Amino acid sequence: GFLYLLVATFAYLAGSIPFGMVIAKAMNLGDLRNIGSGNIGATNVLRTGNKGAAAATLILDAFKGAVAVLVSRAIAGEDVAQIAALAAFIGHCYPVWLGFKGGKGVATFLGVLFALSWITALAACAIWLLTAVITRWSSLSALLAAGLAPVLALLTGYTDGIVLLIVLAALVYWRHGANIKRLREGTEPKIGAKS
Ligand code: G3P
Repeated sequence: GFLYLLVATFAYLAGSIPFGMVIAKAMNLGDLRNIGSGNIGATNVLRTGNKGAAAATLILDAFKGAVAVLVSRAIAGEDVAQIAALAAFIGHCYPVWLGFKGGKGVATFLGVLFALSWITALAACAIWLLTAVITRWSSLSALLAAGLAPVLALLTGYTDGIVLLIVLAALVYWRHGANIKRLREGTEPKIGAKS
């Protein structure tokens, strides 16, 4: 009980670090809330025109999720590592520091997945990349990669992670409500288009 709570709190706090906001502020790129989609993630940092800042956001938002899982696993084992994955993801989407208005969780989803099953994560990245190259929509790529992640887990033998990945995929869809609406209306901007 106490161990679960401790791990979940640690993972939530790791996940709640809004690297996009921190980087944009440090590099004087403006307030992400007033740019593009208003999101704190790498896709929206790219709309400032700064590719390095976007890449750093992607890597650090993924890294914090991976660290949360790896540390939790080392302390408390595989079941608790899955709780840490969920907590880190929730931390990114609902950070206490930003009044619980955080990101959409895509980089952090991939980060925790790399730590849980790197081969499933590679497959999810391949889906993201393939969709992004073909359609140039970051949100659609994320929706396909997250939505197929439970299937990819099945195909790559990570059956222990299927239930967790269904939950994470559902949360990714929930966080992309505005994007789904724009995709349906044909107004979703393509990757790298400035706001
Ligand atoms: O990572 C979030 C991405 O899927 C969409 O970002 O800024 O276009 O809403 P954005």
